[in-house]
Amino acid sequence: MRRSARVTIHPQALRHNLQQAKLAAPHAKALAVIKANAYGHGMLEVANILTDADGYAVSCIPEAQTLRESGTQHPILVLQGHQNQSDLLIASKLDLRLVIHSKDQLAFFDQIQIQPIKVALKIDTGMHRLGIKPQDTHSLYTLLQNHPNIDPDIWLMTHLSCADELENNYTNIQLETFKQCSAQLSAPKSIANSAGILAWSASHSQWIRPGIMLYGSSPFRHQKKDQNKYNLQAAMTLSAPLIAIHQFKKGEPIGYGASFLCPHDMQVGIVACGYADGYPRHAETGTPVNINRQEAYTVGRVSMDMIAISLHNISAKVGDLVELWGTKVSVDRVAHHAETISYELLCNAGNNCTRN
Ligand SMILES: Cc1ncc(COP(=O)(O)O)c(C=O)c1O
Repeated sequence: MRRSARVTIHPQALRHNLQQAKLAAPHAKALAVIKANAYGHGMLEVANILTDADGYAVSCIPEAQTLRESGTQHPILVLQGHQNQSDLLIASKLDLRLVIHSKDQLAFFDQIQIQPIKVALKIDTGMHRLGIKPQDTHSLYTLLQNHPNIDPDIWLMTHLSCADELENNYTNIQLETFKQCSAQLSAPKSIANSAGILAWSASHSQWIRPGIMLYGSSPFRHQKKDQNKYNLQAAMTLSAPLIAIHQFKKGEPIGYGASFLCPHDMQVGIVACGYADGYPRHAETGTPVNINRQEAYTVGRVSMDMIAISLHNISAKVGDLVELWGTKVSVDRVAHHAETISYELLCNAGNNCTRN
């Protein structure tokens, strides 16, 4: 189904952003996180662009299967690991590396004969989402090392929950917990997400896992001033045509709920993009857009497939393309005005819109 709103992916920006991750952590190898359809950018498309990555990370076995069957030879880490024995058969056949995050997953390795599977043992150092208890690290690592169905090249990993908050000491506590339970083990280690890569060098270790920064968005949503500090480039533009222009008088209402009243006589444009296309319904009046290299802003509530924008002192005509986010309006700014995060916006638009 084709709709008017469209998403354009910028391959050069993706490559540039991967280089920024590698520059920030020069001694580490990089697993490009391309789960959830590469945050809406298209998993296979992004994997084909980011061949300079040392490997990829995806959420689940079906994503890994699609990726491997597309022909990539790169290492693939499956962040949620396996859920049953048939996942193990697939992982063994396709040479995937599975995250082991719970003791319950171990039983599936028994009573089968397979090529030994590569694994990464995930330790819960404080995120409390997935991972084994730190005090179980040594015993489980030894058990895995001696298991005939598991490749002895075992990685150790953890995930940071607050690395995007630069003043938050919780990251230091997580890093210290990881260090204490893994220091005696000579296994390759993986800790850093984008925020870790950019701001917490102690988290770099052997394998970094950049996600959001590859797509050109800052992981530090609370530090608005620093948006360009990390030299990231937008990898996705969301745009849609202007389909109507109206002249309204001071006091006339716009859109559902009549929540916006024109503060003066003004021109208003209607853009063919709404929450069905992944534009956030909670974007407030004043959310920036760009039209013909001029910054304008939304007025009134976002509808299912339309947004109203102020064209006061803006030169535009019906048919002109409006950038909702991309190279001129950062997705981070839009996310801020919608009280959400760029991750959500990119996934929603990327998975709902027509591709250019
Ligand atoms: C385990 C794991 N590692 C790395 C990442 C990448 O994180 P980010 O997109 O913040 O760089 C994610 C994303 O949520 C993740 O779940």
